[in-house]
Amino acid sequence: TTPLNTAAKAAGKKYFGSATDNPELSDSAYVKILSDSTMFGQITPGNSMKWDATEPSRGTFTFTQGDQIANLAKANGQLLRGHNCVWHNQLPSWVTSGNFNAATLSSIITTHCGTVVGHYKGQMYSWDVVNEPFNDDGTFRQDVFYNTLGQDYISIALNAARAADPNAKLYINDYNIEGTGAKSTAMVNLVKSLKAANVPIDGIGVQAHLIVGQVPSTLEANLRQFTALGVEVAITELDIRMTLPATDALLAQQKKDYQTVIAACRAVSGCIGVTIWDYTDKYSWVPSTFSGQGAALPWDANLNKKPAYDGIVAGFAS
Ligand code: G3I
Repeated sequence: TTPLNTAAKAAGKKYFGSATDNPELSDSAYVKILSDSTMFGQITPGNSMKWDATEPSRGTFTFTQGDQIANLAKANGQLLRGHNCVWHNQLPSWVTSGNFNAATLSSIITTHCGTVVGHYKGQMYSWDVVNEPFNDDGTFRQDVFYNTLGQDYISIALNAARAADPNAKLYINDYNIEGTGAKSTAMVNLVKSLKAANVPIDGIGVQAHLIVGQVPSTLEANLRQFTALGVEVAITELDIRMTLPATDALLAQQKKDYQTVIAACRAVSGCIGVTIWDYTDKYSWVPSTFSGQGAALPWDANLNKKPAYDGIVAGFAS
């Protein structure tokens, strides 16, 4: 069967990739598959470039774990997606509880994004500069950044990232923006306003944490409305979970669903690549977050390919 990055490239995409995380890198059977650049042309650090990992106390930066992922990508000849500069989650308490005024928080964001993006200058295909800015109803998430700075925090982060690495593609990344709807419309309006204000923005990341049997029918149309803004799109965190146990019927539906998602990206020229949120059920985030659900990825917990794998190949070939 065709390796997945080979299939993606044959379809004109830049990459097919996977997230990974530092603790998994001691699993040699896991790393062997991850490191095959015909399978995965791109990797994303699942945790180790986030704020709590990179600036755990103010002005003290640690890149050991992030560098381990970056070095792996380099050794394997894989692209890297940086994840992420500014997010409400995995944020150290010195940021959330600091009661900073607008000027100070602005400078904290500029320092954080500038330093982290600058550390990896020249090594990143792209950065998720802003992660998950919206509530599901399309209003801005009321996190410490928005509550202190309003939506200006987004341009502050993007400008700092551009200054630190002019060649990295700068993304805003969110979930529940796969289909059309209030949250996707909010993303469209945000990108329009950033472009009108000459704020650097290159891409929209569509996370795509989906549920078997529930791929939005408007996915392709939605990707098109995003690329019509003059930005690229990427599917950045794809997984398709099910209620356990995984039956043959659920696995067959999951195969169809992976094919549908990949075919939508294939059909839209500005959809430049697809990343799954790790490749094996052994290391998926799903079971610990959604009790009774899982089996969301194309490899099972024993590192055997599932029907979903063939769905991905078929999606790129369709
Ligand atoms: O680092 C601590 C460790 O010190 C502690 O001993 C251990 C005990 O629970 O927890 C460790 O932190 C965990 C962290 O992953 C690192 O392993 C957190 O509990 C755990 O909640 C955290 O989960 C991550 C999650 O983001 C947090 O929101 C997942 O691994 C990661 O896959 C997930 O990724 C997010 C994307 O960044 C954004 N989009 C959604 C996606 C899935 O939630």
